[in-house]
Amino acid sequence: MEPVVQGTAIRRAIDTFRGLWDEPDVLSRAPGRVNLIGDHTDYSDGFALPMALPFDTAIAFATTGDTGTGVVRIHSVGFGELEITGSDDDDVPGWARHLVGVVELLEADGIAARGWSATIETDIPTGAGLSSSAALEVAAINALLHRAGLDWSPIEVARLGQRVENEVVGLQSGIMDQYISAGAVEGHAGLMDCRTLSLTPTPIPSDAAIVVMDTDTRRVLADVAYDDRRSSCERAARRLGLDALRDATFADLARITDETDRRRARHVVTENERVLVAVERFAAGDLAGAGTLMNLSHDSLRDDFEVSGPGLDVIVDVARDAPGCLGARMTGGGFAGCAVALVGCDDVEAFTVDVLDRYDFDGHTARLWVCEPSAGASVGRPE
Ligand code: GLA
Repeated sequence: MEPVVQGTAIRRAIDTFRGLWDEPDVLSRAPGRVNLIGDHTDYSDGFALPMALPFDTAIAFATTGDTGTGVVRIHSVGFGELEITGSDDDDVPGWARHLVGVVELLEADGIAARGWSATIETDIPTGAGLSSSAALEVAAINALLHRAGLDWSPIEVARLGQRVENEVVGLQSGIMDQYISAGAVEGHAGLMDCRTLSLTPTPIPSDAAIVVMDTDTRRVLADVAYDDRRSSCERAARRLGLDALRDATFADLARITDETDRRRARHVVTENERVLVAVERFAAGDLAGAGTLMNLSHDSLRDDFEVSGPGLDVIVDVARDAPGCLGARMTGGGFAGCAVALVGCDDVEAFTVDVLDRYDFDGHTARLWVCEPSAGASVGRPE
């Protein structure tokens, strides 16, 4: 089991900034997330129960040029070096599209977003389905809003981050990742209603441990499959004459003639219900009940929505047989990356040892982290 050393990204970003340049004016951090239950529901106006992880992306930032026209300089050990000049903004590496998108969309909103230098560091495993991109967007948006003297609500920040994905990066993702990164409350998961956009802090009982399990597998062409699933859900809703599958009932499903769309819709309808019942189970301290719903969620994502992956299925099966496991499922977009388990606190050490020992998929070695629900993004003067 790897210890989670919170805050090293923050320290590294500040130290690197001082080593390269001078004193940063602003420190902005935003966490990655794990979703406990409710996947592929956000873009159907549904429910989800994510929590922020004790892993941050941190940006140390200073204004170094004209805020309307100046160059943006990024130095990042994890990502690389970059200059955003305004003339060739489309010609940047994949990770930097998220930053270019933040700059362009803020400018389009009339907020000066250029003329800065920053170091960026992250503790979030990248490409693992823990929303490192959303954290980067949220941290960058907050840094620039702070400089402009603006104080947006978490949902406003999240919506801009989602627009970066949808309009600049070209992925039709929902609001979940950016919203929990911007709006999480320490010690709580957040019940997210993706129609009303409420985010209700939901305590996780203290006798439960949340274990994030990285299969060490990574997604290939997941964007295409994601957009395909989203289209299926939109078609099914149209077929039922509804705005979104959020409004569909189990009885409605029989009216969806396309067999694949019907299964996709069945996942969304049953998953929304599972989220709401899971929140009740957590509130009642019924961890076994919550864990059972997590297991059902995985099975539905695997069989009806078909977004699990072989490594994910292996680690979920291994976890379910490990000491103290109450439930285990894939988390997030799926296909590869991380799964999550709900484990009784007393057994967490035995659980992690057993999963690490027995996980065996195609030569991959698992990594496990026991994670407390952590605080959402923050921004201010560096210490
Ligand atoms: C990705 C997307 C989210 C959400 C999840 C699945 O993480 O960015 O909006 O759709 O997949 O729940």
